[in-house]
Amino acid sequence: MLPIVQIVHRPGILDLGWGHPDLALLPAAALQRATATVLERYGASALTYGAERGPGPLIEWICARLAHTDARAPDPVDVVITAGASQALDLLCTLCTSPGDTVIVESPTYHLAVRILRDRPLELVGVPSDADGVDIDALEIVLARLAQRGKRARMLYCVPTHHNPTGSCMSLERRRALAAVAAAYGILLVEDDVYRELSYDAPAPPSVWSVAPPGAVVRIGSFSKSLAPGLRLGYLTADASLAQRLIGSGLLDSGGGLNPFVGLTVAEVGAAGDFDATVARLRAAYRERRDALAHGLRDYLPPGCRFTAPGGGFFQWVELPEGVDAGELLPRAEQAGVSYLPGSRFYLDAPRRNTLRLAFSLYPPQQLVEAARRLGKAIDDHIRFINGYVTD
Ligand SMILES: Cc1ncc(COP(=O)(O)O)c(C=O)c1O
Repeated sequence: MLPIVQIVHRPGILDLGWGHPDLALLPAAALQRATATVLERYGASALTYGAERGPGPLIEWICARLAHTDARAPDPVDVVITAGASQALDLLCTLCTSPGDTVIVESPTYHLAVRILRDRPLELVGVPSDADGVDIDALEIVLARLAQRGKRARMLYCVPTHHNPTGSCMSLERRRALAAVAAAYGILLVEDDVYRELSYDAPAPPSVWSVAPPGAVVRIGSFSKSLAPGLRLGYLTADASLAQRLIGSGLLDSGGGLNPFVGLTVAEVGAAGDFDATVARLRAAYRERRDALAHGLRDYLPPGCRFTAPGGGFFQWVELPEGVDAGELLPRAEQAGVSYLPGSRFYLDAPRRNTLRLAFSLYPPQQLVEAARRLGKAIDDHIRFINGYVTD
Protein backbone atom coordinates (compact mmCIF):
# COMPACT_ATOMS: atom_id res chain seq x y z
CA MET A 1 0.00 0.00 0.00
CA LEU A 2 1.26 3.49 -0.75
CA PRO A 3 1.96 5.53 2.41
CA ILE A 4 -0.45 8.15 3.78
CA VAL A 5 2.04 9.89 6.09
CA GLN A 6 5.48 11.44 5.56
CA ILE A 7 7.20 9.94 8.58
CA VAL A 8 9.03 6.62 8.25
CA HIS A 9 9.38 4.66 11.49
CA ARG A 10 12.48 2.54 11.92
CA PRO A 11 11.95 -0.31 14.37
CA GLY A 12 14.16 -0.13 17.45
CA ILE A 13 15.14 3.51 16.92
CA LEU A 14 13.81 6.43 18.94
CA ASP A 15 14.06 8.93 16.11
CA LEU A 16 14.34 12.45 17.46
CA GLY A 17 15.17 13.67 13.97
CA TRP A 18 11.50 14.17 13.04
CA GLY A 19 9.98 17.52 14.07
CA HIS A 20 6.52 15.97 13.88
CA PRO A 21 3.75 15.91 16.50
CA ASP A 22 2.74 12.77 18.35
CA LEU A 23 -0.47 11.50 16.71
CA ALA A 24 -1.92 11.01 20.19
CA LEU A 25 -1.88 14.79 20.67
CA LEU A 26 -3.72 15.79 17.49
CA PRO A 27 -7.28 17.15 17.98
CA ALA A 28 -9.21 14.67 15.83
CA ALA A 29 -12.49 14.92 17.78
CA ALA A 30 -12.55 18.75 17.73
CA LEU A 31 -11.95 18.72 13.98
CA GLN A 32 -14.68 16.16 13.44
CA ARG A 33 -17.17 18.35 15.34
CA ALA A 34 -16.09 21.50 13.52
CA THR A 35 -16.29 19.83 10.10
CA ALA A 36 -19.88 18.77 10.74
CA THR A 37 -20.84 22.25 12.02
CA VAL A 38 -19.30 23.95 8.98
CA LEU A 39 -21.21 21.76 6.55
CA GLU A 40 -24.43 22.34 8.46
CA ARG A 41 -23.95 26.10 8.70
CA TYR A 42 -22.56 26.97 5.27
CA GLY A 43 -23.80 24.04 3.18
CA ALA A 44 -22.26 23.87 -0.28
CA SER A 45 -20.76 27.39 0.06
CA ALA A 46 -18.10 25.73 2.21
CA LEU A 47 -17.18 23.54 -0.74
CA THR A 48 -16.89 25.97 -3.61
CA TYR A 49 -13.92 28.18 -4.63
CA GLY A 50 -13.20 30.38 -1.61
CA ALA A 51 -12.53 34.12 -1.37
CA GLU A 52 -8.95 34.83 -2.49
CA ARG A 53 -7.81 36.24 0.85
CA GLY A 54 -9.26 33.27 2.73
CA PRO A 55 -12.54 32.75 4.62
CA GLY A 56 -13.78 35.85 6.46
CA PRO A 57 -14.58 34.04 9.74
CA LEU A 58 -11.03 32.67 9.91
CA ILE A 59 -9.40 36.02 9.18
CA GLU A 60 -11.50 37.72 11.85
CA TRP A 61 -10.65 34.98 14.33
CA ILE A 62 -6.89 35.26 13.57
CA CYS A 63 -7.02 39.05 14.09
CA ALA A 64 -8.73 38.56 17.45
CA ARG A 65 -6.28 35.83 18.48
CA LEU A 66 -3.21 37.92 17.61
CA ALA A 67 -4.65 40.76 19.71
CA HIS A 68 -4.01 38.39 22.66
CA THR A 69 -0.82 36.63 21.60
CA ASP A 70 1.06 39.49 19.94
CA ALA A 71 1.73 43.15 20.64
CA ARG A 72 -0.39 44.36 17.71
CA ALA A 73 -3.41 42.86 15.98
CA PRO A 74 -3.49 43.01 12.19
CA ASP A 75 -6.40 44.52 10.29
CA PRO A 76 -8.24 41.96 8.16
CA VAL A 77 -6.74 43.62 5.05
CA ASP A 78 -3.23 42.77 6.33
CA VAL A 79 -3.96 39.03 6.45
CA VAL A 80 -3.79 36.33 3.76
CA ILE A 81 -4.67 32.69 4.46
CA THR A 82 -2.09 30.25 3.11
CA ALA A 83 -1.64 26.51 2.82
CA GLY A 84 0.82 26.50 5.73
CA ALA A 85 4.00 28.46 6.36
CA SER A 86 5.91 26.55 3.69
CA GLN A 87 3.45 27.60 0.99
CA ALA A 88 3.48 31.19 2.29
CA LEU A 89 7.26 31.31 1.84
CA ASP A 90 6.92 29.83 -1.62
CA LEU A 91 4.30 32.42 -2.59
CA LEU A 92 6.50 35.24 -1.28
CA CYS A 93 9.37 33.92 -3.40
CA THR A 94 7.11 33.85 -6.44
CA LEU A 95 5.84 37.39 -6.07
CA CYS A 96 8.63 39.23 -4.27
CA THR A 97 11.84 37.87 -5.80
CA SER A 98 13.32 37.71 -9.29
CA PRO A 99 15.93 35.27 -10.59
CA GLY A 100 19.37 36.22 -9.33
CA ASP A 101 18.10 38.17 -6.28
CA THR A 102 19.98 37.81 -3.04
CA VAL A 103 18.18 36.37 -0.02
CA ILE A 104 19.82 36.47 3.40
CA VAL A 105 19.23 33.52 5.69
CA GLU A 106 20.22 33.32 9.33
CA SER A 107 22.56 30.41 9.92
CA PRO A 108 21.76 27.98 11.43
CA THR A 109 18.15 28.02 10.29
CA TYR A 110 15.15 25.81 9.45
CA HIS A 111 16.76 23.65 6.80
CA LEU A 112 13.56 23.01 4.83
CA ALA A 113 12.92 26.73 4.35
CA VAL A 114 16.33 26.75 2.68
CA ARG A 115 15.09 23.95 0.40
CA ILE A 116 12.10 26.11 -0.62
CA LEU A 117 14.42 29.04 -1.34
CA ARG A 118 16.74 26.75 -3.30
CA ASP A 119 13.88 25.79 -5.60
CA ARG A 120 14.42 29.28 -7.07
CA PRO A 121 17.41 30.73 -8.90
CA LEU A 122 18.25 32.94 -5.90
CA GLU A 123 21.62 33.70 -4.36
CA LEU A 124 21.48 32.66 -0.70
CA VAL A 125 23.83 34.35 1.75
CA GLY A 126 24.14 33.24 5.38
CA VAL A 127 24.38 35.56 8.36
CA PRO A 128 25.53 34.13 11.67
CA SER A 129 23.40 34.26 14.78
CA ASP A 130 24.19 34.16 18.49
CA ALA A 131 22.10 33.03 21.45
CA ASP A 132 19.82 36.03 20.82
CA GLY A 133 19.20 35.38 17.12
CA VAL A 134 20.49 37.15 13.99
CA ASP A 135 23.77 38.95 14.76
CA ILE A 136 23.05 42.55 13.71
CA ASP A 137 26.73 43.59 13.36
CA ALA A 138 27.40 40.56 11.17
CA LEU A 139 24.28 41.38 9.14
CA GLU A 140 25.54 44.91 8.47
CA ILE A 141 28.90 43.49 7.36
CA VAL A 142 27.10 41.10 4.98
CA LEU A 143 25.05 44.00 3.59
CA ALA A 144 28.17 46.16 3.14
CA ARG A 145 29.93 43.32 1.29
CA LEU A 146 26.93 42.91 -0.98
CA ALA A 147 26.95 46.66 -1.66
CA GLN A 148 30.64 46.43 -2.64
CA ARG A 149 29.56 43.91 -5.28
CA GLY A 150 26.81 46.27 -6.41
CA LYS A 151 24.12 44.02 -4.92
CA ARG A 152 21.23 44.54 -2.50
CA ALA A 153 19.48 41.89 -0.48
CA ARG A 154 15.86 41.44 -1.49
CA MET A 155 14.66 39.31 1.40
CA LEU A 156 15.81 38.05 4.80
CA TYR A 157 14.38 34.85 6.29
CA CYS A 158 14.54 34.18 10.03
CA VAL A 159 12.78 32.37 12.90
CA PRO A 160 12.92 34.75 15.88
CA THR A 161 10.57 32.85 18.23
CA HIS A 162 11.45 29.35 19.56
CA HIS A 163 13.89 28.83 16.76
CA ASN A 164 14.19 25.72 14.67
CA PRO A 165 16.78 24.22 15.26
CA THR A 166 18.34 26.08 18.22
CA GLY A 167 15.24 26.81 20.35
CA SER A 168 16.48 30.36 20.96
CA CYS A 169 14.08 33.28 21.29
CA MET A 170 15.17 36.72 20.13
CA SER A 171 15.00 39.56 22.66
CA LEU A 172 12.68 42.50 22.05
CA GLU A 173 15.67 44.80 21.68
CA ARG A 174 17.15 42.59 18.94
CA ARG A 175 13.76 42.38 17.21
CA ARG A 176 13.60 46.16 17.07
CA ALA A 177 17.18 46.41 15.78
CA LEU A 178 16.53 43.79 13.10
CA ALA A 179 13.34 45.52 11.96
CA ALA A 180 15.20 48.84 11.77
CA VAL A 181 17.98 47.36 9.59
CA ALA A 182 15.43 45.72 7.28
CA ALA A 183 13.54 49.00 6.91
CA ALA A 184 16.72 51.06 6.39
CA TYR A 185 18.01 48.76 3.63
CA GLY A 186 14.64 48.09 2.01
CA ILE A 187 14.86 44.35 2.67
CA LEU A 188 11.64 42.37 3.03
CA LEU A 189 12.06 40.57 6.35
CA VAL A 190 10.22 37.24 6.37
CA GLU A 191 9.52 36.33 9.99
CA ASP A 192 8.69 32.66 10.41
CA ASP A 193 6.47 32.70 13.49
CA VAL A 194 5.06 29.15 13.54
CA TYR A 195 5.90 28.44 17.22
CA ARG A 196 4.23 31.53 18.79
CA GLU A 197 1.43 29.48 20.38
CA LEU A 198 3.84 26.88 21.78
CA SER A 199 5.47 28.95 24.54
CA TYR A 200 5.98 26.96 27.73
CA ASP A 201 7.26 29.35 30.38
CA ALA A 202 6.09 32.83 29.41
CA PRO A 203 4.13 34.38 26.55
CA ALA A 204 6.12 34.75 23.33
CA PRO A 205 7.67 38.20 22.79
CA PRO A 206 6.03 40.61 20.34
CA SER A 207 6.58 39.55 16.74
CA VAL A 208 9.10 41.50 14.69
CA TRP A 209 6.14 42.33 12.44
CA SER A 210 4.37 44.04 15.35
CA VAL A 211 7.29 46.34 16.20
CA ALA A 212 8.52 47.04 12.65
CA PRO A 213 7.83 50.07 10.46
CA PRO A 214 4.93 49.38 8.06
CA GLY A 215 5.91 47.24 5.09
CA ALA A 216 9.27 46.04 6.46
CA VAL A 217 8.14 42.61 7.67
CA VAL A 218 5.91 39.75 6.57
CA ARG A 219 5.14 37.33 9.39
CA ILE A 220 4.14 33.81 8.47
CA GLY A 221 2.08 31.77 10.91
CA SER A 222 0.75 28.23 10.80
CA PHE A 223 -1.82 25.90 12.33
CA SER A 224 0.60 22.99 11.83
CA LYS A 225 2.01 23.31 15.34
CA SER A 226 -1.01 24.63 17.24
CA LEU A 227 -3.56 22.20 15.70
CA ALA A 228 -2.33 19.72 13.09
CA PRO A 229 0.09 19.81 10.14
CA GLY A 230 -2.18 17.75 7.89
CA LEU A 231 -4.58 20.69 7.74
CA ARG A 232 -2.02 22.50 5.56
CA LEU A 233 -3.27 25.83 6.84
CA GLY A 234 -1.44 28.98 7.79
CA TYR A 235 -1.56 32.71 7.27
CA LEU A 236 0.61 35.72 6.80
CA THR A 237 0.39 39.24 8.09
CA ALA A 238 1.91 41.89 5.88
CA ASP A 239 1.07 45.48 5.08
CA ALA A 240 -2.22 45.83 3.21
CA SER A 241 -0.60 46.62 -0.15
CA LEU A 242 1.60 43.51 -0.15
CA ALA A 243 -1.35 41.41 1.05
CA GLN A 244 -3.35 42.79 -1.88
CA ARG A 245 -0.56 41.87 -4.31
CA LEU A 246 -0.46 38.33 -2.95
CA ILE A 247 -4.19 37.80 -3.26
CA GLY A 248 -3.98 39.11 -6.82
CA SER A 249 -1.55 36.30 -7.72
CA GLY A 250 -2.35 33.94 -10.57
CA LEU A 251 -2.47 31.07 -8.10
CA LEU A 252 -5.29 32.60 -6.06
CA ASP A 253 -7.08 33.96 -9.11
CA SER A 254 -7.19 30.49 -10.63
CA GLY A 255 -7.82 28.47 -7.48
CA GLY A 256 -9.59 30.89 -5.18
CA GLY A 257 -8.45 31.06 -1.55
CA LEU A 258 -6.21 28.28 -0.27
CA ASN A 259 -7.91 25.38 1.51
CA PRO A 260 -11.18 27.29 2.16
CA PHE A 261 -13.05 24.34 3.64
CA VAL A 262 -10.23 23.65 6.08
CA GLY A 263 -10.06 27.38 6.84
CA LEU A 264 -13.75 27.51 7.75
CA THR A 265 -13.29 24.41 9.87
CA VAL A 266 -10.40 25.94 11.80
CA ALA A 267 -12.42 29.13 12.33
CA GLU A 268 -15.13 26.93 13.86
CA VAL A 269 -12.56 25.16 16.06
CA GLY A 270 -11.64 28.63 17.34
CA ALA A 271 -15.24 29.79 17.79
CA ALA A 272 -16.16 26.61 19.69
CA GLY A 273 -13.33 27.18 22.19
CA ASP A 274 -11.47 24.09 20.98
CA PHE A 275 -8.41 26.02 19.79
CA ASP A 276 -7.77 27.36 23.30
CA ALA A 277 -8.32 23.92 24.79
CA THR A 278 -6.03 22.22 22.24
CA VAL A 279 -3.23 24.73 22.65
CA ALA A 280 -3.44 24.46 26.45
CA ARG A 281 -3.21 20.67 26.18
CA LEU A 282 -0.31 20.81 23.69
CA ARG A 283 1.61 23.30 25.80
CA ALA A 284 1.28 21.12 28.89
CA ALA A 285 2.30 17.97 26.99
CA TYR A 286 5.26 19.52 25.20
CA ARG A 287 6.44 21.31 28.35
CA GLU A 288 6.53 17.95 30.11
CA ARG A 289 8.42 16.41 27.18
CA ARG A 290 10.90 19.26 27.04
CA ASP A 291 11.56 18.87 30.75
CA ALA A 292 11.87 15.07 30.55
CA LEU A 293 14.41 15.32 27.74
CA ALA A 294 16.36 18.02 29.58
CA HIS A 295 16.46 15.85 32.73
CA GLY A 296 17.58 12.87 30.70
CA LEU A 297 20.31 14.87 28.98
CA ARG A 298 21.46 16.29 32.31
CA ASP A 299 21.67 12.78 33.74
CA TYR A 300 23.23 10.98 30.80
CA LEU A 301 25.29 13.29 28.60
CA PRO A 302 29.02 13.07 29.29
CA PRO A 303 30.95 16.12 30.52
CA GLY A 304 31.69 18.71 27.83
CA CYS A 305 28.22 18.52 26.25
CA ARG A 306 26.16 21.68 26.55
CA PHE A 307 22.51 22.54 26.05
CA THR A 308 19.92 25.07 27.17
CA ALA A 309 16.30 23.94 27.42
CA PRO A 310 14.17 26.05 25.03
CA GLY A 311 11.25 28.23 26.17
CA GLY A 312 8.99 26.83 23.45
CA GLY A 313 8.76 25.00 20.15
CA PHE A 314 9.79 21.45 19.38
CA PHE A 315 13.57 21.41 19.50
CA GLN A 316 16.50 20.89 21.82
CA TRP A 317 19.88 21.94 20.45
CA VAL A 318 22.92 20.15 21.86
CA GLU A 319 26.60 21.08 21.58
CA LEU A 320 29.00 18.16 21.81
CA PRO A 321 32.57 18.62 23.00
CA GLU A 322 34.80 20.36 20.39
CA GLY A 323 36.10 17.86 17.87
CA VAL A 324 33.15 15.47 18.16
CA ASP A 325 31.37 15.43 14.79
CA ALA A 326 27.62 14.75 15.16
CA GLY A 327 27.51 13.35 11.61
CA GLU A 328 30.22 10.81 12.44
CA LEU A 329 28.51 9.99 15.73
CA LEU A 330 25.16 9.25 14.04
CA PRO A 331 25.74 5.61 12.93
CA ARG A 332 26.87 4.74 16.47
CA ALA A 333 23.84 6.51 17.94
CA GLU A 334 21.50 4.64 15.61
CA GLN A 335 23.16 1.38 16.56
CA ALA A 336 22.37 2.33 20.17
CA GLY A 337 18.73 2.96 19.15
CA VAL A 338 18.49 6.74 18.93
CA SER A 339 18.59 9.17 16.03
CA TYR A 340 18.70 12.94 15.50
CA LEU A 341 19.64 15.47 12.85
CA PRO A 342 23.27 16.57 12.83
CA GLY A 343 23.51 20.34 13.33
CA SER A 344 25.49 20.76 10.09
CA ARG A 345 22.19 20.27 8.17
CA PHE A 346 20.99 23.67 9.40
CA TYR A 347 23.93 25.85 8.38
CA LEU A 348 24.17 27.60 5.06
CA ASP A 349 27.95 27.68 5.33
CA ALA A 350 30.64 27.15 7.99
CA PRO A 351 28.69 24.43 9.84
CA ARG A 352 29.43 23.73 13.49
CA ARG A 353 29.84 19.99 13.25
CA ASN A 354 29.73 19.36 16.98
CA THR A 355 26.02 20.25 17.18
CA LEU A 356 22.82 18.26 16.84
CA ARG A 357 19.06 18.79 16.99
CA LEU A 358 16.67 16.68 19.02
CA ALA A 359 12.89 16.99 18.56
CA PHE A 360 10.91 16.28 21.73
CA SER A 361 7.49 16.50 20.03
CA LEU A 362 7.04 12.91 18.89
CA TYR A 363 7.65 10.76 21.97
CA PRO A 364 6.21 10.65 25.47
CA PRO A 365 8.44 11.65 28.41
CA GLN A 366 9.72 8.18 29.36
CA GLN A 367 10.91 7.46 25.85
CA LEU A 368 12.67 10.81 25.71
CA VAL A 369 14.59 9.92 28.86
CA GLU A 370 15.50 6.59 27.28
CA ALA A 371 16.58 8.40 24.10
CA ALA A 372 18.82 10.65 26.20
CA ARG A 373 20.33 7.59 27.88
CA ARG A 374 21.08 5.95 24.55
CA LEU A 375 22.52 9.18 23.16
CA GLY A 376 24.72 9.67 26.23
CA LYS A 377 26.11 6.16 25.91
CA ALA A 378 26.75 6.59 22.17
CA ILE A 379 28.59 9.88 22.77
CA ASP A 380 30.64 8.30 25.56
CA ASP A 381 31.58 5.35 23.36
CA HIS A 382 32.38 7.64 20.45
CA ILE A 383 34.64 9.88 22.51
CA ARG A 384 36.49 6.85 23.80
CA PHE A 385 36.83 5.60 20.23
CA ILE A 386 38.18 8.98 19.05
CA ASN A 387 40.63 8.99 21.92
CA GLY A 388 41.84 5.55 20.89
CA TYR A 389 40.68 3.58 23.91
CA VAL A 390 38.38 1.37 21.88
CA THR A 391 38.57 0.05 18.36
CA ASP A 392 35.47 -0.64 16.31
C1 LIG B 1 10.40 27.13 11.53
C2 LIG B 1 9.41 26.36 10.74
N1 LIG B 1 8.75 26.94 9.74
C3 LIG B 1 7.85 26.28 9.00
C4 LIG B 1 7.57 24.95 9.24
C5 LIG B 1 6.57 24.27 8.37
O1 LIG B 1 5.35 24.89 8.55
P1 LIG B 1 4.04 24.44 7.74
O2 LIG B 1 3.69 23.06 8.16
O3 LIG B 1 3.02 25.46 8.15
O4 LIG B 1 4.37 24.53 6.29
C6 LIG B 1 8.23 24.30 10.27
C7 LIG B 1 7.97 22.87 10.52
O5 LIG B 1 8.74 22.18 11.12
C8 LIG B 1 9.18 25.01 11.03
O6 LIG B 1 9.85 24.43 12.03
